[in-house]
Amino acid sequence: MSDFVRIVEVAPRDGLQNESAMVATADKIALVDRLSATGLRGIEATSFVSPKWVPQLADAAEVMAGIERQPGISYPVLVPNLQGYERARAAGADEVAVFTAASEAFNRKNINASIDESIERFMPVLERARADGVRVRGYVSTVLGCPYQGEVPLADVVRVARRLHELGCHEISLGDTIGVGTPRKAREMLLAVAAEVPMQALAVHFHDTFGQALANVAACIEAGVRVADSAVAGTGGCPYARGASGNLASEDLVYMLHGMGLETGVDLEALAETGRWLAGVLGRTTGSKVGRAMAPQQDLA
Ligand code: HMG
Ligand code: MG
Repeated sequence: MSDFVRIVEVAPRDGLQNESAMVATADKIALVDRLSATGLRGIEATSFVSPKWVPQLADAAEVMAGIERQPGISYPVLVPNLQGYERARAAGADEVAVFTAASEAFNRKNINASIDESIERFMPVLERARADGVRVRGYVSTVLGCPYQGEVPLADVVRVARRLHELGCHEISLGDTIGVGTPRKAREMLLAVAAEVPMQALAVHFHDTFGQALANVAACIEAGVRVADSAVAGTGGCPYARGASGNLASEDLVYMLHGMGLETGVDLEALAETGRWLAGVLGRTTGSKVGRAMAPQQDLA
């Protein structure tokens, strides 16, 4: 099993989509550029969803035009349909992510479609992406619980993940959208999916609503996954998932992985500094415990 864990940093998208205050486009660009200098290999830069649904990211094209993309880093962007794909491509995106859920109730609130309808909408996106040589990541949300339906059967998670993989998604990110999972359940969920989709094609995406995200990711790393999504400063949350709160903080994840003897390629000092900078932009203290612990004394006053 590889000692390298690839982190997909999602603060510029998942982190900023849920902010009540508008963040300036220049700050969004600065965030991506700062993250690019930390050694991260994947940074989800923004989202080309409907600006009526997520006004926070209406400036996606400006963000893509402003960032300085570095070699060796992928900058996927979220797209819900062909219109989003076309906007993303016009803005220069060369990797996209489609998203659906294991729960019908959440999917209806989030993208106004059933699971099957959402997959129908992805078909033309996947076809075009294949022709354009664009890699597509696939998200499955609510893998450990749904804010509207409650329990989500494992069989539904496996079915949706397998379908996205069959359709050509190079990586399937399994999302605990509302952070209700606990380590044993997270591990069981991952292993159930890995029985149908190769572990190398899986990623985990934990929100930290109940404080379980770090424990969950540790359990999944021990079970063999080698890609994890997280957001600097612990930002994040889905506006259409009642009760969803921040993602697992990237600083906490990196600190833990390095402590487990695993490599990430990430400079933790630079990442923590970026997290504190972002928290300052958002007008609060960082949501990362590691970020706080590593802060110079004067920053804590
Ligand atoms: P709809 O209203 O059913 O769609 O929304 P529609 O096709 O009827 O379009 C309505 C209007 O939106 C039209 O404009 C379209 O042109 C426009 P109008 O004619 O009214 O002026 N439109 C678009 N505009 C720009 N870009 C587009 C686009 N598509 C349509 N791509 C839709 C359906 C999917 C568009 C909508 O529900 C939507 O955008 N939802 C996005 C919700 C979202 O972004 N949620 C957060 C991301 S998911 C997440 O956070 C979970 C994750 O982190 C993993 C986890 O934690 O579990 C990934
Ligand atoms: Mg999320």
